[in-house]
Formats: sequence, structure tokens, C-alpha cells
Amino acid sequence: ALAEKFTTALPLPPVLSPVSTDGGADTYAVTMLRSYARVLPGRRTEVLTYNGAFPGPVIRARSGRPVVVRQTNLLDDPVSVHLHGSAVPVDSDGGPMNLLGAGATRTYTYPNDQPHASLWFHDHAHHLESEHVYRGLAGTYLLTDATEASLPLPAGRYDLPIALRDARFDTAGNLVYRMDDAEGRATVLANGRPWPKVDVAARRYRIRLLNSSNLRFFSLRLADGGPITQIGSDGGLLERPHTTDTVDLSPGERADVVIDFSRYRPGTSVVLTNSMPPGPAEHIGQVLRFDVGRPAPDPSSVPDRLRTLPPLGPVARERTIVLKVEEGGAGVAPLGLIDGRQYDPARVDAAVAFGTSEIWTVHNANTDIPHNFHLHLVQFRVLQRNGAPPGPEEGGLKDTVRLMPGESVRLQATFDSYRGRYPYHCHLLDHSAMGMMAQMEIA
Ligand code: C2O
Ligand code: CU
Repeated sequence: ALAEKFTTALPLPPVLSPVSTDGGADTYAVTMLRSYARVLPGRRTEVLTYNGAFPGPVIRARSGRPVVVRQTNLLDDPVSVHLHGSAVPVDSDGGPMNLLGAGATRTYTYPNDQPHASLWFHDHAHHLESEHVYRGLAGTYLLTDATEASLPLPAGRYDLPIALRDARFDTAGNLVYRMDDAEGRATVLANGRPWPKVDVAARRYRIRLLNSSNLRFFSLRLADGGPITQIGSDGGLLERPHTTDTVDLSPGERADVVIDFSRYRPGTSVVLTNSMPPGPAEHIGQVLRFDVGRPAPDPSSVPDRLRTLPPLGPVARERTIVLKVEEGGAGVAPLGLIDGRQYDPARVDAAVAFGTSEIWTVHNANTDIPHNFHLHLVQFRVLQRNGAPPGPEEGGLKDTVRLMPGESVRLQATFDSYRGRYPYHCHLLDHSAMGMMAQMEIA
């Protein structure tokens, strides 16, 4: 039932409209429900959705103006809605135990007291997050501010959010979920479709890439090796643009890029490729195709200076974190471990003093599988990767950082926004569902 390549158009996710803009906040009403999506030709795929949308909807927000989301759960399972990359009070963080039962409604308040960033929201109910996100519970949250809005970057219809993920389908077109099924999920979806085509004008576009996969890493390139200008990462714009031919994304990471299609003759097609296994290259090696049309007026540009990052303050404390999946042996599920322990919501693994800055050295102790590392509540800076300064793509604000087998990353985070208990975990969601998650208390 797989699609012929590059026949369907890339869908753009719907942008939600607030139900109210009174009281100094934008209020949204979202319903989580089972629905059907046309993912494969001639098939209906059952999906779990926010407001029926697959891919999930987009919320647009502005720094300094709160957003309130009233979430109603019409699914059979408990859920928890986490706004990934945000600094929010703990009762709105959507942590693993912060559950919203079947039939219940809950209001999440997002102060947006942080700079612009391309965020996303997704389910986080303990042990269920992995299957829920896989089946569709993920959406996009684009936070802007005056700094970003003052730049002449491509905007409006020339600013495309594209979420990439993989999936396994049965012959009827249903999603098949099996824990830790990295090899089986060999169909790549871009905004919920396999191998879509994207009609673009011969001008600059801003593309906001999100890896919403559970396990799959991407290494993306244009098939002709053409330049991609990365302007942003998880926590918003880089200080300076950086031109490359490859963008790597682990699950949960984002990259904002600008591609100038005016270098192609109208009528040219260029495929966005992926070189990261697993899976047969004819399946996972091609992601989508840009079909370049006529030139269009292009007043946009990418300035040499995009923003100034907040300075790194003095360090109060250093920690070491070890990530490891341990095989459970025959018939036993593997264990996801942080510092040798599975997640226990009753335990505080890291006591952090409010208002201080810490350096965490995170190590992937597996030599054969990749992990990554995500902290709730903060945007951090990567200081070192394997003892060397990070590349420019990791020089900005990050909330999720990849750790290939055996790698170490040193990062610095400042905990000055909210107090309370927040998780940190591997964002390969099959791993966090196996327990690769821990808890910090900021007090
Ligand atoms: Cu995007 Cu705790 O997760
Ligand atoms: Cu992991």
C-alpha cells in the first residue's frame, strides 16, 4: 500500500484559532480524540489526535503574552500534555505523572515568559507516551518575539513547519506499534505523508524541521549537496547563521533552516535525503521532494547577526549523568536506566538550588545504540561534545542533545524560572517508556 513517491502534496498542519483573547491571554480549546487520516493512498489510518488533526495542529504564540490551553481527553487512556522546550510552572508542565484521565478536562497555562523558539507539544503519560506520540499526539507551538519579528527572514507562506517521523504500517494501512521497533518503522512521514512533494517558488524559504520520531535519527541533505543555512535550533535562533550541507536531528530536536531555491532553474526537482539507518535506503533514504516553480519576489534575507544569547553565569555545581539501556535477557523487556536506575516518581535524583547554574556531563554508556538527553524547564548550552567545542549547529540554546554510542556532552543550564519537580530523560520515547527518565527538584 505504499505510495508512489512524490505524488501527494505536503500537507501543512492547521493553525489553531483561540476561542478567546480576553483577560490578557489567548485561550485555546483542544480535544484529544481518535480519528482517521489519509496517510497511505486508498487507506484509512486510525490515529490519536489533538482536534482531529494529523499531523497535529500549530499554536502560534508571542513572548510576554500567556497562552491557556483547555485540553479535553476523549481517548480511553490517561494522557499528559507537555510543551517541550518551555519554561512553565510545574502544574502545567505535563510531566509523566501529571495525568489527565479519560473524559477529563484540564487547563494548561503557558506564561511564554521566554524568548522566541520553535517548540512542540506531545503526550507524556508515563509508559504510554511512546505509543501515544507514535499514534499522533504531537503538535507544533511557534513562539515569536520582537527580536525574531524584527529580522527580514522568510515569513508567512514562505515559512514551512515540517515534522519528520517514521512509522510501520500493516497491509490495511494501520499503524503498528511495537516497543523498540527501530528496524520495523521503515516508512518516513513528512507532515504525516510518505514521500510528499512540496511546490516551492524560486526564492528563499524558512523551514522549521522537527524530528517527532520515537527512535529514528535523521541526517538530512539536499540530493545535489546544495547549501542549507541553519538559522536556529531548539531554543530559537543561533547567534549567527551557519551554512552546511547536512542537518542531523535526534528525536525531539528542531532545526530552523533557510533554503534559497532561486539557485535552481524553474522546473527543477530536488530531493531531501536521509542517510541515517536503520531501514532500506529505497524507503528511508528519501524524505520529500521540492519542486521548484517560478521565481517570486523575495524581500527576505538572512542577516549575519541573528540574536545575542544570554551570558553563561558562574557554575554552582557539576554533575555526571550516565544513560544506559540494559538488555533484560530472553523474554524480559530491556531496562532504560539513568545512573543505573529506572524512573521512580517518588524519588528526587537531582536537587538543584533555585537561581543557580550547573554543568551536567551526560554520557551514553551504550556502545551500540544512540540516545539523547532532554531537560524539562530549561534551555541549556552545549559546552563540549567529546571534550571538544560543539559545532555551530549546537552553539545556540538547546533542550535536547544527541548522544551517539559512547559519546559525552557537557552542558550548562540555569534554573531561574520556576521551582518544583521536573523530569529529564532520553527522548527516544521507547527508552523513556522503559524507564530512562529521572527527576530534578528545583528548590
Ligand atoms: Cu519532549 Cu519530557 O519531553
Ligand atoms: Cu535512549
